[in-house]
Amino acid sequence: MTKTITIDGKTIPFEEGQTIMEAAAAAGVYIPHLCHHPEYAPHGSCKLCSVTVNGRSCTACTFPALEGQEILNDTKELNDSRRRITQMLFVEGNHLCPGCEKSGNCQLQAVGYYLNMLDNHFLHFFQPRELDASHPDVLVDRNRCIFCTLCVRASHRDGKDVFAISGRGINKRLIFNSESGLLKDTDLDVNDQAAHICPTGAILIKRTGFTVPIGERLFDDKTIAETSLDYERGDHDG
Ligand code: SF4
Ligand code: FES
Repeated sequence: MTKTITIDGKTIPFEEGQTIMEAAAAAGVYIPHLCHHPEYAPHGSCKLCSVTVNGRSCTACTFPALEGQEILNDTKELNDSRRRITQMLFVEGNHLCPGCEKSGNCQLQAVGYYLNMLDNHFLHFFQPRELDASHPDVLVDRNRCIFCTLCVRASHRDGKDVFAISGRGINKRLIFNSESGLLKDTDLDVNDQAAHICPTGAILIKRTGFTVPIGERLFDDKTIAETSLDYERGDHDG
């Protein structure tokens, strides 16, 4: 017999071993997320995917789907809390969307739009963060890093472990695996998955910034809910 959960009252089948996020995506239900990527093990760090499961808060990307769970996802309370988290990410880093070449292709920006984020709400930290333009093909702007660890996980799968997160709290930084600490002295290649997985504009491929004009970018036509579900269905252009 098919096992089921409910999300916002909708009955959703799941397979043994699936997380709530995976079951939801398979049924066409979008749960906002940033550190989740369907091809990598969950990390559970951004908390954007928090849902209420039988009255308790859980991260959908890490929590298994279990028979009989009654889950709340698309509620005002949860979306208000997700908007606050997104606003915190914006003020903790230096995300200046109008001047960022990832604008329109950026998941952080798209989540902000999805959650109807109209301002930063919190005071901006204006933290000094270092930019590394030393690599011939890849630029890293730490101002835009949200510490999702996707580049860390991807580079581990690339067999290179180029990226790591160092420090805690306000001192947290993306660091590179080289004696000099510079990106140019790592094994990173422009074709590595790690160079292409960043959900923000923190890792950029040089000389490609404006090849797709503004107005024709990923989130200019579709919401992040639509593109995420396209991706989970295997449409990797989505
Ligand atoms: S550089 Fe990008 S992919 Fe890496 S941790 Fe920061 S936001 Fe995530
Ligand atoms: S997507 Fe689940 S914690 Fe980030």
